[in-house]
Order: sequence, then C-alpha cells, then structure tokens
Amino acid sequence: MGSIEQKSRILVFGGTGYIGNFIVKACVAAGHPTYVYVRPMKPDHNPSKLDVLNEYKSLGVTIFEGELDEHEKLVDVLRQVDIVIVTLAIPQCHEQHKIIEAMKEAGNIKRFIPSEFGNDVDRISPLPPFQEGVCKIKKGVRRAAEKSGIPYTFVSSNSCGAYFVNFLLRPSDEKLRKVTVYGTGEAKFPLNYEKDIAEYTLRLATDPRAANSLVFYRPPKNIVSQLDLISSWEKKTGRTLEKTYVSEEEIIKLSQTASTVQDAVGTSILHSIFVKGEQMNFELKEDELEVSKLYPDYKYTSVDELLDIFLVDPPKPASAAFG
Ligand SMILES: NC(=O)c1ccc[n+]([C@@H]2O[C@H](COP(=O)([O-])OP(=O)(O)OC[C@H]3O[C@@H](n4cnc5c(N)ncnc54)[C@H](OP(=O)(O)O)[C@@H]3O)[C@@H](O)[C@H]2O)c1
Repeated sequence: MGSIEQKSRILVFGGTGYIGNFIVKACVAAGHPTYVYVRPMKPDHNPSKLDVLNEYKSLGVTIFEGELDEHEKLVDVLRQVDIVIVTLAIPQCHEQHKIIEAMKEAGNIKRFIPSEFGNDVDRISPLPPFQEGVCKIKKGVRRAAEKSGIPYTFVSSNSCGAYFVNFLLRPSDEKLRKVTVYGTGEAKFPLNYEKDIAEYTLRLATDPRAANSLVFYRPPKNIVSQLDLISSWEKKTGRTLEKTYVSEEEIIKLSQTASTVQDAVGTSILHSIFVKGEQMNFELKEDELEVSKLYPDYKYTSVDELLDIFLVDPPKPASAAFG
C-alpha cells in the first residue's frame, strides 16, 4: 500500500466503542504503534469497557486517560503520535472541535480522520432530526478540519454490515419468522463488514492519495437492497420470512413523534438509507475516490460472505447508534 510510513503512530479517540474496537484491532494487526485516549472509568460506564481496555493492554496498546477538555494533556498526547482517527459516538461528535484545536497547537499530525463512518453528510438532505443533529455537527467538523491546515480524510463508509444485518434480520433469533421492511425495500445501499471498514480506513490514513479527500466505500459486491438481503438470508437458512412494510409516511411520523432525540435521529437515518436511498442515489464525480478501486488487492467481505459468517459465528449486535 502507498504510505506516509508503514509504522505511523496512530491515536484513536472513541477506541473503546463499537467502530473504534474494529479500528484499534486493525491498527494493532498492521503493526502500528497504537494509542487510545479514553475517558477515565466512572461508575456509570459500561463495565465491559474495562474488559476492552484490559484486552488493549494485552495487545500492547498505549492507553491515555483524560477528558476532551483537558487541552494541555491533549496537546501533549498528540505530540507523541502521527495520525488521529476519531470514532466518538454521535452525541460526542461536536467534541471533535476540541481535538482539532489541540492538533493545531501540536502542529505535527499528518492525517486526521473524523468520526463519520456513514453517509456523505454534505450531499444528503434527510429529515430534520438527522439533518439538524448528526449532519449539522459532522459538517461543522468537516469545515473546521478543512480550515485547520491538518491533512484530513473524510470517510463515507455507508452502512455497517454486521450492525445492519443484526438490525434488519435479527439472525440470532432462530425462531424469527417476521422481518420489518422500511419503505418498499428496493432502495440500494452499500453494506460493508466492519472489519473491512476498519482495514480500508487504516489504509487511507497512511495513503497520500487520500489526503484532503472524501472517500466512498462502495465495493461492487456489497450494493444491496433490504429485499435482496432478506431473500439471500431465506435461501441460506431455508426459512421464509413474513415481511411487514413500514411506509414512508409512517417513518416520517415516527421521526416526528419519537420520545427521545436518539429515536428521532435513528428513524430519520432509516428513512435516509432505506427509503430515499441516499447512500447510492448519486454518481461519484470524476475526482471522488472509491475505496475498493483504490485497493483492488484487498479482498473485502462480500454481503454473501458476511451472511455466511452469521450462519457460523454471528457477530454480536452493537448497542451503538447508527449514522
Ligand atoms: N454507518 C453505520 O452503519 C454506523 C454504525 C455505527 C456507528 N456509526 C458511526 O460511527 C461513529 C462511532 O459510533 P459508535 O457507534 O462506534 O460509537 P459508540 O460505540 O457509541 O461510542 C464510541 C465512544 O464514544 C465515547 N463516548 C460514548 N459516550 C460518551 C459520553 N457520554 N461522553 C463522552 N464520550 C462518550 C466512548 O469513548 P471512551 O469511553 O473510550 O472515551 C465510546 O467508546 C459515529 O460517527 C457513528 O455515527 C455508523
């Protein structure tokens, strides 16, 4: 692979989370000195975070404990690394402005990959909860990164494979005979296994071709619709699944009447991906990068292979929010 250097020191913020875990493991597997900046454990934190941190220690990951508003500490930590990848949760994405300010002061960061891992937030026009929440914040971080002078890569990795297979097909429930279909079920979207998202992201982080670019993850074998996915799963399991369709009108209503912001955003994300098809309803421009074309040597997991993994050893559902 093209690289700034093979053994760049990589710091991950949000490394104990769902996407972060895949990224940290990919960094370690590729032999990069790997660092995570984590909030100190508090009584309200999920106890499994401690297991994750112990696993990281055993893998040789260096752990820095701190809050994101400890500016001097952040600058000091940043001066010890080359590349920053952020996988903070949606409600914390605005905190990335603090990381950008600290990176500007540190002055040594060769690449910054902010917490995106979803739709191209500059292109889509989703329902208000998604537009005003996640999109607005992630766009603000893009603009700040562009102004910062720090080389950046924005990743539009589209739909997380294991995450959405768990969400749409509930594969761990062997008695399941019913599935929910959002809209007509025909809109296409790229469904990428998280291990590949992490591997591609890591390659981009050290690739000069991806500096100051937006990169789309659209591997050709992974472009599916909900109906394609259900039909493939029926063939693999020998089960027939009864489909309950949720109409666009119902989804819009749900996003307007949701009792929590998280539910409202979640519903409007479903609308964007599955009803409007906003991950695939545009052609890439000539100068826009697509990750499987950048790395034709990398054998990504096709959706068909991902479903086979679910038949044998199902990846656990995440408690994370999508987007
Ligand atoms: N396209 C998709 O299908 C999809 C699916 C999932 C996620 N995503 C995207 O991926 C990115 C990461 O999401 P995720 O689901 O992986 O995140 P997550 O697991 O919910 O959390 C990631 C990290 O954020 C930090 N965090 C969580 N709650 C916090 C709080 N209250 N205060 C401060 N920090 C907190 C934690 O880090 P520490 O405790 O270690 O500090 C945590 O490990 C987001 O941009 C999200 O939109 C996309």
